[in-house]
Amino acid sequence: MTAPVHSLKGADLLAEIDRLKRERNAVILAHYYQKPEIQDLADFVGDSLDLSRKAAATDADVIAFCGVRFMAETAKILSPEKTVILPDMDAGCSLEDSCPPDQFAAFRAAHPDHIALTYINCSAAVKALSDVIVTSSSADIILQQIPKDQPIIFGPDRHLGGYLARKTGRDMLLWPGVCIVHQAFSETELLKLKAQYPDAPVAAHPECPPHIVDHAELVGSTKAILDFAIRSPSDTILVATEPHIIHQMEKAAPDKTFIGVPGGDGNCNCNMCPYMALNTLEKLYVALRDLEPRIELSPEIMDRARVPLERMLGMAGRTVGQGDVGRPVIGGS
Ligand code: 13P
Ligand code: SF4
Repeated sequence: MTAPVHSLKGADLLAEIDRLKRERNAVILAHYYQKPEIQDLADFVGDSLDLSRKAAATDADVIAFCGVRFMAETAKILSPEKTVILPDMDAGCSLEDSCPPDQFAAFRAAHPDHIALTYINCSAAVKALSDVIVTSSSADIILQQIPKDQPIIFGPDRHLGGYLARKTGRDMLLWPGVCIVHQAFSETELLKLKAQYPDAPVAAHPECPPHIVDHAELVGSTKAILDFAIRSPSDTILVATEPHIIHQMEKAAPDKTFIGVPGGDGNCNCNMCPYMALNTLEKLYVALRDLEPRIELSPEIMDRARVPLERMLGMAGRTVGQGDVGRPVIGGS
């Protein structure tokens, strides 16, 4: 028997989620940008690359994916025989929205000599049109394995693509998408924090624009930012990525101070991902109870999208995600 969700609160809700998880033989995967209460009950919390690896390797029957839709779709593509549920199917991504498959196909057709190196933050249909998928922690090592004279289309994040192009000197055609969250970080607010905490290093995600990344001591994926924050000798760290990751930092290094860089004029919640925020414990409970909403994709799209995803897993190897420690090599915008 399952209880109606409105009658469940606190410990009861957690106990019911745990019971359903066992009954369904489910694994709960969560991204670092999820609410703390979701991170705390997940079996695994990680960045996009590690979550893909977990999804590919799990022997659970059900993957309850607490993240956004493109991540749950990736899990389904890599483990097509599993049931993959997402607590809220509206949990999308501005990068995915910026890149409709028909426009991406036309762009590819206009540049037939280019290969498409595509950020994992895109739809399954765009993955199916791509040659290699990358995440922020694997893009650099994958790029190093592509011959220097090979022309490349990079989409949909122009800031990650621009960062890689500046860092490696590669000439890449960039799709003009942005992450609305990382785009919103304010340089003015960051400079105020740096003046207030002159010894605190800045760790930034490469989805941030150059005027943020150029101030960072570390540029890397969420996992790289987390590792840097924990091992840094500084007791205060300025964090330029979605602030829910600070939950893991505080758990791992309770004596340190982690300060999220504000977005906008410093008074908005625009440094928080509105898509990630759609997932709640109540919706996770309902999804485990009903096995809905569930990811359904056409077998043809999945077969085509699996090829560049498996290339990524092969090319990324096992030891990536350190980020770039030290001043970013490139400045300016
Ligand atoms: P990573 O966790 O791979 O760094 O990705 C960040 C992100 O924006 C996910 O949406
Ligand atoms: Fe997409 Fe940005 Fe949200 Fe990540 S943080 S899911 S890139 S909108």
